[in-house]
Amino acid sequence: MNILGISCYFHDAAAALLADGMLVAAAEEERFTRKKHDYEFPQNAIDFCLGAGGLNGADLDYVVFFEKPFLKFERLIISSLQTFPHSHKVFREAMISWLGDKLWIKHLIQKRLGVAESKVLFSDHHMSHAASAFFCSPFDEAAILTVDGVGEWTTASLSVGKGREIKRLKEIPFPHSVGLLYSAFTAFLGFEVNEGEYKVMGMAPFGKPRYVDKVHKLIHIDGDGSFELDMDYFCFHHSKEQTYNKKFVDLFGPPRNPKANFFTATSGYPCYFGVKPSNWEELSRENEFYADVAASIQAVTEEVLLQLAQNAYEETGLKRLCMAGGVALNSVANGKILRETPFESLYIQPAAGDGGGAVGAALYGYHAVLGKPRRFVMEHGYWGQEQGAGEIESFLKENEIPFRCIEKEENLIAHVVDRLEEGKVIGWSQGRFEWGPRALGNRSILADARRADMKDIVNTKIKFREPFRPFAPSVLADRAEEFFVLPDAAEHYPARFMLYVVDVKEDKREAIPAITHVDGTGRLQTVRKETNPRYYRLIDAFGQASGVPVILNTSFNLRGEPIVNTPKEAFHTFRESGMDVLVLGDYVIEKCAGKISGRG
Ligand SMILES: [Fe+2]
Repeated sequence: MNILGISCYFHDAAAALLADGMLVAAAEEERFTRKKHDYEFPQNAIDFCLGAGGLNGADLDYVVFFEKPFLKFERLIISSLQTFPHSHKVFREAMISWLGDKLWIKHLIQKRLGVAESKVLFSDHHMSHAASAFFCSPFDEAAILTVDGVGEWTTASLSVGKGREIKRLKEIPFPHSVGLLYSAFTAFLGFEVNEGEYKVMGMAPFGKPRYVDKVHKLIHIDGDGSFELDMDYFCFHHSKEQTYNKKFVDLFGPPRNPKANFFTATSGYPCYFGVKPSNWEELSRENEFYADVAASIQAVTEEVLLQLAQNAYEETGLKRLCMAGGVALNSVANGKILRETPFESLYIQPAAGDGGGAVGAALYGYHAVLGKPRRFVMEHGYWGQEQGAGEIESFLKENEIPFRCIEKEENLIAHVVDRLEEGKVIGWSQGRFEWGPRALGNRSILADARRADMKDIVNTKIKFREPFRPFAPSVLADRAEEFFVLPDAAEHYPARFMLYVVDVKEDKREAIPAITHVDGTGRLQTVRKETNPRYYRLIDAFGQASGVPVILNTSFNLRGEPIVNTPKEAFHTFRESGMDVLVLGDYVIEKCAGKISGRG
């Protein structure tokens, strides 16, 4: 039985294909269209998934859409009417876009895929999130928390998953949303909503949570895990452009200038910002204020999530927790849930945002609607498109790019390890691209985590990121505990997907400074031989050569672009950046004195 899951029209559009309950392929549309967070109908992702399964639309038994468009439309209409006339613009735009396309998704799916009306099913938004976590987990029974901006009406939910069923126990309705609260601060701190939330999380350790009391004026948290926003401070319910209003600014002061560089006395002034301004001390004090605001909203978000998790435990009595929804990408909060609540084991969907709803919708259809037994566990995140040796070689030859093919893996790895030890920055593209926002060693930029200057080198050469954004470490799963405070590290699924921030062991912080954040933490990825043998062997070989089986891993993209997919995109990124070596499968391309050469 073939089931296609689709999510689109909100944040990240994606498609996923299930064959007899086993995931065949899953990908976000942005990887094909090169439009970051592309939310349009995911035709390219669908074509890729069908191709991966050797299918046409007519071979599909069901197509499941990740939410219920009419309920969502109802929410837009009702909240627009409640806030009229402030909402007149949102109302007008919603009418145009929803009456044009979004409401008629069933017909669009029928038309594009050639499937009968009876084959198109709908899940609801938070059910898709819940299914994407529980049905991908190895657990027979678990509590399930979903937390995001908003679905149809729901912004957070608690369910219990048992076998092939998911039963919802509780939910929190719009406009009370911890995701939208976090987004309001993301905008206030000068970052793009739905994109800059990581930056707020990275900025927080540079500040102190001095304004928690003020944040508490915006959100009332009840002891049972529920919460309410004071809507006097917000306008996301009636505006598309603004999330917070004048009362919010009266409370916190003017928002941060999005164009201003962020640095503090702790971060120092990075060279890639250019000439240091004469008033940099004054500017860094200003930045410290914003870092304090970031620390405060992060602290309150953690408080909300810890209470939701604590309550989930009390209501269900279960020791296992599944999570999804955009807020479940808050890896600092996730680490705390593991450490500070009675849950012993967590599973978090790696594509916890709306893209993940495609997998959730398909699994919901298969198990909850059709009652089919569970066979699948998402053990890894490599579900995207693969580029074969033939495609790589013909691209290189057609474009007269000098390369060397090192077919023997041992030699290829030894070559890359040498380059890493020389302090080179490597573009590493292997196998199928990752599902979800994190690069997990198949579309990654790699560097030596032992070098204190490597953060600046990678930022100066490629990423141009603010100094508060930490780089993540990939570590051998079986050696993670030597470096990170995560007991039984190899057992934890979220660590495979870079979804926990934990302390770097105090005596190891000097050994891996490039991936140790200012507060001594790291967002580790544990790498297993069974799920990514080549990446495992690379880190292992680097460990044998250097004594440290840890590599700096950041996503293979230029700032603001989606992660690369094809050899052409990887090469373009390599050429446009200061990367030194590009490894595409077995093919190695190098730069010598900044120029692409056949060296090696
Ligand atoms: Fe969502």
